[in-house]
Amino acid sequence: MKRVVLGVSGSVAAYRAADLARDLMRAGCEVRVCLTDAAQNFVQPALFEALTGQPCLQDVFEEPVRGRMAHIDWARQADLILIAPATANTLAKLAHGDGEDMLTTLALAATGPIVVAPAMNPAMYTHPATQASMESLKARGVHFLEPVEGDVACGENGQGKLAANSQIVQETLLILHRAEKLKGQTVLITSGPTEEPIDDVRFLTNRSSGKMGMAVARAAKLMGAEVILISGPTSLPTPTDFRVIPVRTAEEMRSAALGEIRHAHLVIGVAAVADYRPAERVQGKIRRSEEEMVLKLVLNPDIIAELAQAHPEKKVVAFAAEPTSDPEVARAKMLRKGVHAIAMNDVSRPDIGFGADENELKLLFTDGKSAESGKQSKLGCALWLLEKLTEA
Ligand code: C5P
Repeated sequence: MKRVVLGVSGSVAAYRAADLARDLMRAGCEVRVCLTDAAQNFVQPALFEALTGQPCLQDVFEEPVRGRMAHIDWARQADLILIAPATANTLAKLAHGDGEDMLTTLALAATGPIVVAPAMNPAMYTHPATQASMESLKARGVHFLEPVEGDVACGENGQGKLAANSQIVQETLLILHRAEKLKGQTVLITSGPTEEPIDDVRFLTNRSSGKMGMAVARAAKLMGAEVILISGPTSLPTPTDFRVIPVRTAEEMRSAALGEIRHAHLVIGVAAVADYRPAERVQGKIRRSEEEMVLKLVLNPDIIAELAQAHPEKKVVAFAAEPTSDPEVARAKMLRKGVHAIAMNDVSRPDIGFGADENELKLLFTDGKSAESGKQSKLGCALWLLEKLTEA
């Protein structure tokens, strides 16, 4: 049985959470409700306790089981947290990581999927602050069920009504199902650029923010996988909910990947590995002297090709950042490297290129099949990619 924590915040639509709890229970979930203070102006804990047969949480310091911190227990035991309805205030708290009430504290302690269905006045919904909260939550993998247009309780008309209960339940079940898809599997990801030192202060590198590799790691985690992320230097915060192996050079990335591949079922090479490295690393700092200087470079190992060739039994997938939308170059690359599939993106487009928050992937398989993700957030692309790879 799947455990869902249903968080209810202070919107008029809080009354609909009672039916939501029942619908989720009918769909086979165990539901535990958590009310914010504001929600209790509309609905009472007794209603949800009677409906769900579970204690209803309200206060951060409440301990239904003595000596156990409920926010940690419930966050660990939940397969999913659904916040419906979510007010602008709760969205802002979630976005900033405030742990001011039980619901936001619980969300902070949760490592599984979070689904949010906002409901509020249309002006509050379109307010840049609310939109910014939603954007930052989406980037962290929170799934949104957008409110619908119509007459809202305050008498105004616009987008702000809680999405239909049937849609909320359906999407929640889909996300619970998705969270199982990579259960028991380990996904190994290479990500970010590599740095190839010329001397102690200079290096050669590739343009790569590491955002796409991080999105693939996050998506794999959301789908229930064990994740190992081998990452070159980036400015992204280091995640704490999966293993990260920091590396600098292509040689370091190669030996980390060769050391870890035995654990992996699926390997995805998102890293922008420098193809060449200086033949020699000069100790100290090279000084200005001659008019010209020749830097001798040697070829770096092709990590993903080596992994694919050494482990034909594993699913190994490459990325191809190409300055074109023509898939032929990527197709040839896939065959040359001996990988199972290749995800190509057009880096000549500024909207989805280096450092952007969105991407658009074309996935090519060795059997000639292909699929397109459409333009979406990097996390959306990553979830799409992993779904396609699990179907293939
Ligand atoms: O040949 P190209 O660099 O375009 O190939 C891109 C794909 O190959 C990516 O998956 C990248 O991570 C991987 N790659 C690698 N080692 C290299 C070069 C690329 O693993 N030396």
